[in-house]
Amino acid sequence: MTYFVETLNRHIIEQERRYPEATGAFTALLTDIALAGKIISYYVNKAGLVDILGKAGGMNIHGETQEKLDVFANRTMVRALVHGGQLCTLASEESEGIIPIPSDYPLGRYVCCFDPLDGSSNIEANVSIGTIFSIFRRITPDGKPGTEKDILQPGKKQVAAGYIIYGSSTMMVYSTGSGVYAFTLDPSYGEFVLSHENLTIPKKGKIYSINESYFDYWDEGVRNYVRWAKRAVPEDGRPLNSRYIGSLVADFHRNLLYGGVFLYPGDSKSPSRKQGKLRLLYEANPLAFIVEQAGGRASDGFTPILDIEPSDVHQTSPLIIGSEDDVRIAEEFIQGKRTT
Ligand code: AHG
Ligand code: MN
Ligand code: MN
Repeated sequence: MTYFVETLNRHIIEQERRYPEATGAFTALLTDIALAGKIISYYVNKAGLVDILGKAGGMNIHGETQEKLDVFANRTMVRALVHGGQLCTLASEESEGIIPIPSDYPLGRYVCCFDPLDGSSNIEANVSIGTIFSIFRRITPDGKPGTEKDILQPGKKQVAAGYIIYGSSTMMVYSTGSGVYAFTLDPSYGEFVLSHENLTIPKKGKIYSINESYFDYWDEGVRNYVRWAKRAVPEDGRPLNSRYIGSLVADFHRNLLYGGVFLYPGDSKSPSRKQGKLRLLYEANPLAFIVEQAGGRASDGFTPILDIEPSDVHQTSPLIIGSEDDVRIAEEFIQGKRTT
């Protein structure tokens, strides 16, 4: 029975009902994330009107200049999550170390890794940006502060993951391991309303998405793939299309709905980019969880993203993600199994 307006909260409660051992902590945690998303959405949509655009003056651990909205989004996610008593620690793209729960707040059984604002270099151009989150059960004993051990788990251990995309509408897309659900924010009454149930990605698409300005710095396998993609005329006679927004969440969301493959391979432009630019814990892992739940595939070109054992909170990974058939073709080139 679909409720007359299937809101996110009602949906999460329904999902919770299916797991007798669930304690409602999960519902509270996803609700806190949704609240943070609504607040960030409000400011992203007002960004041009209030003094929240532009550089915050600081650098994050990756040496990237922080936009004011990066700092605001990070602060909003931390504030929304540390009070709820669901987490024992957090990790954010914008914070060097793991973020402890203040001693006067209750500790919970989950950890959350997040990219508070993805695609932030696009903010001033009014291009879609997003928040990405990944949730694990803690593995250290309950009742004590969480540690890096709780954070450095392989993606296949995620209990939930998702993203909020701030675009022509604000949408929250998430999975708890039983399919992918998308909710569109109705700003008139501030509720995320179910818009896509059991979302699945087409088995193959017509889009390849990669920043070709790095062509000269890629391995030969990636270059051979792009040369092929430019010429490929699949059996239906319609050649592939290149689309690149430069916001991972936006490029991923488009491919999730339309089909296609996004690639951010490693390159030799600088030693720090050998394993690519995108971070495993709060960019690759959550989107890999979503795409596999939607019937797609995600790897670093050789190993499924969800199988990678992390060793550092901010480690990067090459990312090939999207429709299963399209990702497999790209992997064949990257692995040298084909050159044309
Ligand atoms: P963030 O804004 O969180 O640092 O992420 C930016 C990432 C990702 O959103 C996007 O896919 C990628 O940077 C684009 O990088 P290039 O400009 O090198 O293509
Ligand atoms: Mn990002
Ligand atoms: Mn970011």
